[in-house]
Amino acid sequence: MIKTDIQSIDEYNNKIKRVLITKEEIDEALDKAAERINAMYDGHPVLLVSILKGAFVLMADVCRRVTVPCEIGFMCAKSYYSGTVSAGKVSITMDLEQDISNYHVVIIEDIVDTGRTLKDVVNLLKERGPISLTVITLLDKPSRRVVDFAPDVALFTIPDCFVIGYGLDCGEYYRNLPYIAEYNEGVN
Ligand code: IMP
Ligand code: MG
Repeated sequence: MIKTDIQSIDEYNNKIKRVLITKEEIDEALDKAAERINAMYDGHPVLLVSILKGAFVLMADVCRRVTVPCEIGFMCAKSYYSGTVSAGKVSITMDLEQDISNYHVVIIEDIVDTGRTLKDVVNLLKERGPISLTVITLLDKPSRRVVDFAPDVALFTIPDCFVIGYGLDCGEYYRNLPYIAEYNEGVN
């Protein structure tokens, strides 16, 4: 293994504790989310904004189901730097290239945990005066919230556990898992 925090492939695999949400369940939820976007915007163009890196898989799957004209844009906002502990601050390290004042903006996020990242991102984007702003998140962990923030759409509400897969990482690994799994913090 390249990184010193994982010593062997067995250790890597043992960190995947159990599958929480299967690929099939994700696919079904994505169909519903896209139907909702298509109905909401009813032929009007939208700008889908994905928060990197975690939402890159979700963005790819959602945008291919959307039938209204859509542009995509990316921002990089981080509140976790490594491991499973929040650093407790948000920094925008890559911004959108679009002037969003003429857009219906749909933020596509992987997970709302403390809510700090999205609250900051939403406030920032609202200041730029989009026609409308909607937040869709794959996962919501409401029990972990430390700021007042609620997404408009959450595809799954999950308990307070650290999850990996489908874009979500631990120490940059596991983003490529096609399902969402609980991360095993206790096993080496
Ligand atoms: P928040 O600002 O605390 O809501 O954190 C949002 C960000 O923290 C997400 O975009 C993820 O990158 C990361 N995060 C929060 N919970 C998890 C988790 O269970 N697994 C992996 N990343 C997480
Ligand atoms: Mg992350």
